[in-house]
Amino acid sequence: MKKLVKVLALTAVAAMALAGCNSAKDDAKVITMATNAEFPPYEYMENNEVVGIDADIAKAIADKLGYELKIENVDFDSLIPGVQTGKYDFSMAGMTVTDERLEQVNFSQTYATGIQSVIVKEDSAIKTVDDLFAEGASNKIGVQLATTGDIYCTGDIEDAGLGTVERFNKGADAVMALTSGKIDCVVIDNEPAKVFVANNEGLKILDTEYAKEDYAAAIAKENTELLEKFDKALGELIADGTVAEIIGKYIPAE
Ligand code: ARG
Repeated sequence: MKKLVKVLALTAVAAMALAGCNSAKDDAKVITMATNAEFPPYEYMENNEVVGIDADIAKAIADKLGYELKIENVDFDSLIPGVQTGKYDFSMAGMTVTDERLEQVNFSQTYATGIQSVIVKEDSAIKTVDDLFAEGASNKIGVQLATTGDIYCTGDIEDAGLGTVERFNKGADAVMALTSGKIDCVVIDNEPAKVFVANNEGLKILDTEYAKEDYAAAIAKENTELLEKFDKALGELIADGTVAEIIGKYIPAE
């Protein structure tokens, strides 16, 4: 008797699993994007929802492809691993295309450009980006962990013995450390930098730029089918002005 119960239970589990599979197939119309919503105006939280340029562009792409878009908000350094393992279908996070990342994932065509900027206190001794690399420099530099700001500053400054890099989980936390005098500057993308400076007193962005970069969506290497569809949809949205319109909605022309 006991055995029969077990068999029945197993059958039930198997049936449920099968049913689960089927229903998943029926509404297999969900596509999952991962992002790190600490990066206004590309992605940030509003009323418990991820909003911003990337969310809007992703939604437009999903609409075109007939998918329902689901957005997962995770740490920046788990975006690429999550895409690689297939946990997420793609990632959009103001993510810069780099050679190193291209070894791990594929990138869509680029849809925006970014600049690595330097935020300092208004009365800072750091006047230009070059001051960070000057002989004898020894600044404490804040970055968001695993971003290109982190990668560049680690290579150019920390490894060169010209200062130390403090890595924060959120760009906003790096800015807070700057405001409270724990670090000397923050290296971060220009658009979030503008938002952070507007929201905090006594800060400014240096006129000189650290680096120029291209933003694109990351997709698993194996998933060339999605890459193709994604790129086609994105290309159409760039061509018909939708992408520019979305960016313009969040970044008013100066
Ligand atoms: N562009 C930089 C990079 O790719 C920073 C991106 C940070 N994005 C974010 N959603 N926190 O490394």
